[in-house]
Amino acid sequence: MKLTNSRILITGGSSGIGLELGKQLSAKGNKVIICGRPEEKPIAAKDFCKLSGYFRSDISDPEQCQGLAYWVKQEHPDTNVIFNNAAIVHRTGFWRNKDIVEMGESQMQTNFIAPVRLIHLLHPVISLNYNALA
Ligand SMILES: NC(=O)c1ccc[n+]([C@@H]2O[C@H](COP(=O)([O-])OP(=O)(O)OC[C@H]3O[C@@H](n4cnc5c(N)ncnc54)[C@H](OP(=O)(O)O)[C@@H]3O)[C@@H](O)[C@H]2O)c1
Repeated sequence: MKLTNSRILITGGSSGIGLELGKQLSAKGNKVIICGRPEEKPIAAKDFCKLSGYFRSDISDPEQCQGLAYWVKQEHPDTNVIFNNAAIVHRTGFWRNKDIVEMGESQMQTNFIAPVRLIHLLHPVISLNYNALA
């Protein structure tokens, strides 16, 4: 994986591991773009992605995933790496919680289906750019 002079999309780059990853990759000279659910670019990420960008997208929603992919292709067509970092973990009692199945479904949408969808949508542009750098 090329982690210098790249443009890198990190899903969920506004907190936790994604935020730290964004800071470190940015310090190495990469252009980092992130997505998340809040309307505004999160304050924590303002510094490291000030030169590139933030896109509001709830990746558990197929339409918002499509919007994210469209934004990447239109505004950042040189993107060559994607980190599917965004995820949720529901910590709850299995037997006590009446919403356990719905919670499992939303977790699968965010943690599994969304990365598959994003890879499918963005693979053409990312692989083209990635191979061009080889
Ligand atoms: N922390 C650990 O010990 C650990 C261990 C193993 C694996 N991991 C994995 O590492 C990754 C990051 O973990 P973390 O601890 O840094 O998690 P975190 O602090 O909870 O951060 C999760 C990020 O995902 C984003 N996110 C969640 N749902 C989203 C959605 N529907 N659409 C868009 N963005 C969404 C959040 O952004 P917004 O809230 O701004 O939307 C947030 O920035 C996850 O994939 C996790 O499973 C973590």
